[in-house]
Order: sequence, then C-alpha cells, then structure tokens
Amino acid sequence: MDFRDFWYVVAESRELKPGQVLARKLMGEWLAVFRDENGKPAAVQDRCKHRAAQLSLGTVKNGCLSCPYHGWEYDKEGEVVAVPSEGENFKRAKSRRVQNYSTMEKDDYVYVRLQDGDEACEEPFAMRHYGEEGWHTVRLINKFQNNVTNCVENFIDIPHTVYVHPGIFRNERRQKIDVEVSRKDGAVKAIYKNETDNLGWFSKLLNPGGTEIVHTDEFFMPNVSCVEYIFGPKRHFIITSQSIPLEDDETLVYTDLTYNYGIWNKLAAPIVRWQGQAIINQDIDALANQMEVIKKYGSKFANTPADTIHVYVETIQRELERGKDPRKLPEKCVEVSMLV
Ligand code: FES
Repeated sequence: MDFRDFWYVVAESRELKPGQVLARKLMGEWLAVFRDENGKPAAVQDRCKHRAAQLSLGTVKNGCLSCPYHGWEYDKEGEVVAVPSEGENFKRAKSRRVQNYSTMEKDDYVYVRLQDGDEACEEPFAMRHYGEEGWHTVRLINKFQNNVTNCVENFIDIPHTVYVHPGIFRNERRQKIDVEVSRKDGAVKAIYKNETDNLGWFSKLLNPGGTEIVHTDEFFMPNVSCVEYIFGPKRHFIITSQSIPLEDDETLVYTDLTYNYGIWNKLAAPIVRWQGQAIINQDIDALANQMEVIKKYGSKFANTPADTIHVYVETIQRELERGKDPRKLPEKCVEVSMLV
C-alpha cells in the first residue's frame, strides 16, 4: 500500500463540463481529465505519444481527446482511435497508448487514483452529510505551499489557533482541555473532553445558546481531516478537508464546511464562506513559512503531549512512504491535556 493507491479529488463535478478538458497535477504526474461519450470522467497522462504535445490543450469530440498538434484522437482508455494523417489506413496499435487512470465521481467531486490494486482503497472518503436534507455545504479550494502531512496537521491542531487566528477563531485563555487521542486502522481521532465556547466571535453564530460543545478531530489516511463540532442535538458544524498532493511542497485543499442550522442554512452561507476563507488565508501564510524553513533546516520536529495527534498521523504517513499498510500498526489510545 502506498499513496498512489488512494483516490484524490482532481475537480469539482461542475468544473468538468462535457466537451472540455482540464489540466491537472497529482503527485507530480500531469493529467488531462475529460468526460467520455457517456459523460463519465476519464483521465490520461497529459502527454501525446506522438510528439509530446500537452493533450489538455486539445479538444474533446464525441468523448475522445484530440491532440492540439497533429490531431491524434485518444479514447478514455488512452488508446489512439484515429490519426488524421493516416485516414482510412489507420490501425490501432498498443504502442501508441498513453497511460490512463481510474476515475470516480462522488459527492460532486471527480476523483482519480494513480494506481489500482489495493482492496482497502476501493472507495474515496465519503463526505459527511454532503447533499443530505437539512444540511448545507460551503466548498472552498485553496493552494498551500507545503506538503499534505503538514497541511493535515494544521487542520487538526488546536494550539496554533490562538496564535494564527486570534479573535476570529480562538483567543488565549490558558484553559485546560483534556483530550483522548487514539490511532486505529489508519485513522487518528482526538476527542476533546471539556471544550469551551472559545471560538472567537464566530461562536455567537455557531453556538448562540452557549450549549456544551462536543468537539472531535479526525484524520483518515492518507489525506483527509475532519473537524466536527456539535452544539446540542440540532446543530453540527463539520469541516472536512481533502489535501491533494500536487508536488512534494504543493497541496491543493478542498474544504467542505457542512452544517445543519435549519432555516439559517442558506443565510449563514456567505458568513461561513467569508470566515472560513479568512482562517484558511492565515493558515496558508503560516504553512508557506513553515515549508521555507523546512527547506532550509529540515523537518525534524520536537513534540509535546499536545502534539500526540500529529505524532500518530506521522506514523501512518511514514508507513505509507515505506509501502507498508498502516492498518497493521498497533492500536493506541492515550489521554493528554493542553492549555489553550
Ligand atoms: Fe500529438 Fe502530434 S504531438 S498528434
């Protein structure tokens, strides 16, 4: 098992219109993504077999991708199905095939995986409550100049919020929070025991009644984080982030802010979007700076008990880097506390 076995978002469904082709990057691979004759997403390596033109600059006709240079036509399998200069004499040949990749469409995202084979990776992560009645999702897309692991760690990191997002997310109060952190089956979960309403002015919107908050942070290998706040039986706010590795130091993050605030769902959307983007912008700057320093001095980190969740995430990512199955790591569960 390794990172190439998993599904990664390459576009929102609405971006990939019939008859269009999108250029995408995934783990350093260049992809041309389009819809076949049945409207199903297709993805091939973005390099023409003939003279190396970029296929994503071409056009889509009848579900086939036509190269912009000499017009060779590729089907969804990456096989050449027409060469204009050969006309009637054209014959299919395996040697002309470009690499194609598996695709899937789910929750209005288009997914690609670079490598098939591992049964554990048959399905992409299911976005929680997406499209369900009574729930609303605001979707944000942002590029971070850092790797997937550091992005994920940021998204499930409480202590940074009082320094990077003072006022809009949390303020420093030196309150003790107890956390149960566990690792199991390639996933990490932190349950915060005595979370308070210290969520900046936003808490007035999220939790106007000051109800006791249930807060969990989760990581699912290799690139999904899920932060969930429950403010009583009827109000949930879930932040699910899919971090897509474009390059070793470049990550595109699709963030779903999903909530159920009843009649306020639609009205709250612009505020949720603005607030979410403001917080993400601050994280983009912090993570770009972190990567600059890592490039200069390396990534050997020091840890405190508050970093336990990150340490568990890193053990999982390390196993994947070695081509091993992180689900075979021993289960862990510890209690830690932190001041926020
Ligand atoms: Fe693509 Fe010639 S380079 S058809």
